[in-house]
Amino acid sequence: MDLTSTGTKPTAEKPVNEGAATAFFSAWDLHSYYGESYIVQGVNFDIHEGEIVALLGRNGAGKTSTLRTIARMDDPQLRHGEIWLDHQPLHTMQSWQAARLGVGLVPEDRSIIPGLTVEENLTLSQIAPPIGWSIERIYEHFPRLAERRMQEGVTLSGGEQQMLAVARALARDIKLLLLDEPYEGLAPVIVHEIESILEGVKKLGITTIIVEQNAIAALHLSDRAIILDMGEVVFNGSAQEVLDNKELRDEYLAI
Ligand SMILES: Nc1ncnc2c1ncn2[C@@H]1O[C@H](COP(=O)(O)OP(=O)(O)OP(=O)(O)O)[C@@H](O)[C@H]1O
Ligand SMILES: [Mg+2]
Repeated sequence: MDLTSTGTKPTAEKPVNEGAATAFFSAWDLHSYYGESYIVQGVNFDIHEGEIVALLGRNGAGKTSTLRTIARMDDPQLRHGEIWLDHQPLHTMQSWQAARLGVGLVPEDRSIIPGLTVEENLTLSQIAPPIGWSIERIYEHFPRLAERRMQEGVTLSGGEQQMLAVARALARDIKLLLLDEPYEGLAPVIVHEIESILEGVKKLGITTIIVEQNAIAALHLSDRAIILDMGEVVFNGSAQEVLDNKELRDEYLAI
């Protein structure tokens, strides 16, 4: 994608941290605040292209705040640190610029737009470039959405709404998928259905960060795990290591 033609030309001259030069995604020394409330306290991690990373931690550890910082939402405000995606400085951008560059945030509330059908919700996410999957391709991969294309999006079941939220992200040409609690409030059988959709996303090689309270499910899907505690990274290693290490899970995860 030619960034110079989209108004998102990078303003930083060159990466100052080593990770930015090598990693596909790099969060470097992030500090962010809600007003004066200091929440993300020096978060660092890199992600290779195509990797799936589980971002875990207890309630209030700062997982959502970290995702929102990466997606460049207004809150929390990033006051220090750098975020690089495919050599582009996200930290210099606003949320719409980050979205245009390929950051796809699927928030906890799923953000389905009331008053619009499933199809209108999908079409609306393609209102501006970069366009990802066609609506036809989405329906092939999400037959439940195809069956309900004329139904109002907010009247879908929880699992179907989660499918629509992921489908809306794929309708754009994304480089980084950020999933905040995709299994939340869903019955185990529906969790399995969403898991297989995410397995499919993984096969496509889309770099993904998944935040989940259901850590075991997230770890099975992920290559790597990062654990946050009180706004700081306390573990960064393989997902298998966390599955094998009960002490670590007892200390930092509610499982
Ligand atoms: N809008 C806000 N204003 C002030 N403080 C906030 C705001 N949103 C979150 N916080 C605080 O930031 C801290 C981290 O919250 P965050 O939502 O990032 O945690 P989390 O790890 O996603 O937790 P959970 O697992 O419960 O979703 C918490 O102490 C929370 O109270
Ligand atoms: Mg959260």
